[in-house]
Amino acid sequence: MPDQIITKPSSNPIAIVGGGAIGLAIGWRLAQRGASVAIYERGEAGHGASWAAAGMLAAGVETEPGEAALAVLNRRSLALWPEFASELEQVSGLSVDLRREGTLMVALTRDDSAQLRFTYDFQREHGIALEWLSARQALEREPRLNPSLAAAVYSPGDHQADNRMLVRALKRAFLAAGGALHEHAPVIAIDVAAGRVTGLRVGEARVAAETVVLAAGAWSGEIGGLPAEARVPVRPVKGQMIALKMDPAAPLLRHVVWAPRAYMVPRRDGRLIVGGTVEEKGFDTALTAGGVFAMLEGAWRALPGVEELPIDEMWVGFRPGSRDDAPMLGPSGIAGLVHATGHYRNGILLTPATAELVAQYLLSGEVDAAMAPFAPTRFASKVQA
Ligand code: GLY
Repeated sequence: MPDQIITKPSSNPIAIVGGGAIGLAIGWRLAQRGASVAIYERGEAGHGASWAAAGMLAAGVETEPGEAALAVLNRRSLALWPEFASELEQVSGLSVDLRREGTLMVALTRDDSAQLRFTYDFQREHGIALEWLSARQALEREPRLNPSLAAAVYSPGDHQADNRMLVRALKRAFLAAGGALHEHAPVIAIDVAAGRVTGLRVGEARVAAETVVLAAGAWSGEIGGLPAEARVPVRPVKGQMIALKMDPAAPLLRHVVWAPRAYMVPRRDGRLIVGGTVEEKGFDTALTAGGVFAMLEGAWRALPGVEELPIDEMWVGFRPGSRDDAPMLGPSGIAGLVHATGHYRNGILLTPATAELVAQYLLSGEVDAAMAPFAPTRFASKVQA
């Protein structure tokens, strides 16, 4: 991103609602370029969806029919990731553990194999570099996979980063750049008068603000004060997750693996993240027997050795789902209110591109062509009062 100084100094800082990876990264980019920025986070920064995530940077294997514009943004962000990670590590002094072994999609049965072939053909038509592997070739890459697997696809470009290390590094970088972080400071409402933002209500307090970035993830739709036509159509999509504990000196996996009913993400410290259910249950925080069983069974079918692994942690997270599974980025239709929310399953992947594009918009007033397809106003005529 070119160096830019904010051209219209305001007496109030830019206020960011939400201190997850997206809010922290936008704040960091703005503060680096001389803007005055304050983040308001309802809990502890980075402990919402950014904490719950698996950290997959799956621009290739998560490409689905009907998501052409999103696939372009995903790939742009993936390309930014290595430099983003190395700059962040340098300024924060903290690793984000970007791993580049790539991703395997595994088919266990002939039916899975037919489905995988369909996905493989579709994704290759969209320019994603993928390699079809026989069972033998897959086992050469990952010898602990189920030896009776049917086939696999290798995606050399789909990586992972440790999302929890990421938010710790972003928090430190944001503070080091001069940003102000208010934790346990829930934004109850965004105040709007005559079609423009005037401030925030933070708990009992009122804070004046002319520019507000809404980056509150699954909670974005809960913020009051906005007129009906500007309400944010984001809902929580519940995901249950498990971390198992491998021996870091002899891990069962090195690649990210997508099996038919679970994905597995091996961390360098030995944690094996297994995920994730996709449930429309609002903000239900319950871990369920069915959810945990489905993930463990899915993981065990692909990687039988998981049955020996201790369980390290189980948790629930809330993906910010939008109506078309794509994020809302940029001006909202209310003067001074900018959206950076609705990242659904790709928040960690989309962090660098979102930070670049939204910060650039805030500094220049120009909507980059890469951000235009994700205008929050695309839902405006469909919003119900
Ligand atoms: N991106 C992984 C998930 O949403 O479960």
